[in-house]
Amino acid sequence: MIDGKKVLFSGMQATGNLTLGNYLGALNNWITLSDEYECFYSVVDLHSITVRQEPSELRKRARNLLTLYIAAGLDPEKNCIYYQSHVSGHAELSWILNCFTYMGELNRMTQFKDKAAKHADNINAGLFTYPVLMASDILLYQADVVPVGVDQMQHLEITRDIAQRFNAIYGDVFTVPEAYFGKAGRKIMSLQNPEKKMSKSDENVNASIYLMDDTDTVIRKFKRAVTDSEGQIAYRDEQPGIKNLLDIYCACTNKEPEEAVNEFSGKGYGELKMAVGETVANVLAPVQTRFAELSKDKQYIDGVIKNNAQKANYYAAKTLRKVQRKVGFPDRIR
Ligand code: TRP
Repeated sequence: MIDGKKVLFSGMQATGNLTLGNYLGALNNWITLSDEYECFYSVVDLHSITVRQEPSELRKRARNLLTLYIAAGLDPEKNCIYYQSHVSGHAELSWILNCFTYMGELNRMTQFKDKAAKHADNINAGLFTYPVLMASDILLYQADVVPVGVDQMQHLEITRDIAQRFNAIYGDVFTVPEAYFGKAGRKIMSLQNPEKKMSKSDENVNASIYLMDDTDTVIRKFKRAVTDSEGQIAYRDEQPGIKNLLDIYCACTNKEPEEAVNEFSGKGYGELKMAVGETVANVLAPVQTRFAELSKDKQYIDGVIKNNAQKANYYAAKTLRKVQRKVGFPDRIR
C-alpha cells in the first residue's frame, strides 16, 4: 500500500515497435488505473540486454517508449514512469532472489526455451535468470497487482513462488502479487493470420499495425487483411479474420460486438475494412501528434525521467534495506 492505494507494477521492453495490440491490450487500459492504484510503469532495459542490442539504438528506443507512455495518456505526475536501469535496486534484489530460485524452476520456463532456441548462439545466464529479474521488479515495489498477458503468466507464477518461499523463511517481507485482468482487454490478432496474436516481432509488416503507422499505411494494411469467403459479417470463431476486425473496431469505439455487427449488417467486407482502418487511424493520430510534440520537449522529458527515478528509488530502497537486513547483511553506518 502507498498512501492507502494498492500498488500496480508493469513493464515493457523497448525492443521492436509497439503495435496496435500493445496499445489496445495494455497501454490504453493502463490510463484508467491510476485513480485506483499507485502505478509503476517501467521501461525494462535491463531485460533487453539478455539479447544482443545496438547500444545507441537501445537508448533511443527506450526514450521513445517512455515518451510514448506519456503520449498515450499516462500522466507522469500520477504514474511512476521510469527506466529500470536508473534504479539499482532491481539488480541488487535480483541477485538476492537468484539465491532463492531453483535451476529446475527456471528450466521449466517456456519463454526461456523459446528464446534459447531463437538465440542459440547466445544462451547467456541473464536469459536464464530473466524471470528472477522480473520477480524483483514486482516485489521491489510490493506490488499487489500486475497486468500481464497470458505469455507472462508463468513468470508471474514463479514470482509468487519466490515471494512465498522467502516469506516462509523470513516472515512477511513481500506482498504476494496477483495477476490483474482489466475489463476484457481484447486480444488483437495478426491481420495476415488471425489465428495468431499480433506481434511486434512479426516479420510480415502487413500483419501488424504499428503505433507510428500513418493513416495511409493503416488503411492499406486493413484493406489487405486476411478474411474468409463466407461473405457475411458475423462475430464468431469460425470467421477469425472478421471477428478480429470487429474486436479492433469495438476496442476503439467502446462498442459491443453485437452493436458493431448490426451496424455492418448487409455490408461488404471492403466497407468493414475501410471503416475499421479509418477508426484506427483516428485513434492513433492524436497519440502520434502528442508524441511528436513531447519528443521535441527535451527538458520536460528529462524532468520526468529524473523525478520518477527518484520516486522509484525511494520505494525500492525501502524494500531492499528490509531484505538485506533479513538475509543477514550488516547495517549501514550513517
Ligand atoms: N517480461 C515482460 C515482457 O516481456 C516485461 C516485464 C519485465 C514485466 N518486468 C516486468 C511485465 C514486471 C510485468 C511486470 O512482456
